[in-house]
Amino acid sequence: MKFSSLGTTFEYDDIGNGRALVLVHGFPLDRTLWRYQLEGLQSVARVIAPDLRGFGLSDDAPEIMQMDDYADDLKALINSLNLARPVICGLSMGGYVALAYIAKYPDAVSALILANTRAGADSKKVREGRHKTADKALAGDVPDIAESMLPMMLTEATLAERPTLAEYVRSMMARQRANGVAAALKGMAARPDRTAMLPEIKIPTLIITGSEDTLISPDESKSIHKAIPHSKLVVIPSAAHALNLEQPSEFNTAVKEFIAKLN
Ligand code: MLT
Repeated sequence: MKFSSLGTTFEYDDIGNGRALVLVHGFPLDRTLWRYQLEGLQSVARVIAPDLRGFGLSDDAPEIMQMDDYADDLKALINSLNLARPVICGLSMGGYVALAYIAKYPDAVSALILANTRAGADSKKVREGRHKTADKALAGDVPDIAESMLPMMLTEATLAERPTLAEYVRSMMARQRANGVAAALKGMAARPDRTAMLPEIKIPTLIITGSEDTLISPDESKSIHKAIPHSKLVVIPSAAHALNLEQPSEFNTAVKEFIAKLN
């Protein structure tokens, strides 16, 4: 489905009935990250999964996309669909966007799901690395970036035993446009530290992490869990960064149980 805001067109999926659940993909991914959640959660929620600006089938991004810019795009989509206080679920960079969203629009979210993400900002070294990777992307090397990220997206066992899934993730990353990839990298490098706001988050929060995530360590999720009062932590075994694709039934069960308690 398509949605336009201030001259920019976005692609999104919208399926199912019930409480609205907005799924925000990570980097360098698109809404097809959520294929098993669109299938598996539509019986318990209205599942909405957009392509962030510069990714998938959404329009190109400007030179830099701050996490706040993605949050504003999400707000425009949520307003246009008349969704009253949806649940926001973000994976990795999607989690950075979810935290930016709740910082900006604290009364517009009923619950939060943070998967394989972190609250802190980047170190100087990581920021410099992101700018180098952005230059690589703009020089036409997105497929190389995809290749180097693949071993962190899935566990070794999955990479060895589930070639169709490995190819699904590799090609999702490799087909992203240089413009969107570079804009996201620059935006992630510039994102603020959100650690101080975590104790202020009073809405129900579910934190999900893959036990084998090497891109964002499960320790990051454990710290977020400690800092957000009354949050729940679920650690999914045999899962790396793209945990919702790798272990969809465990991921969906955690989300279903969380949503059932909200209703
Ligand atoms: C993601 O998976 O969204 C990103 O790799 C996160 C990051 O680079 O910090």
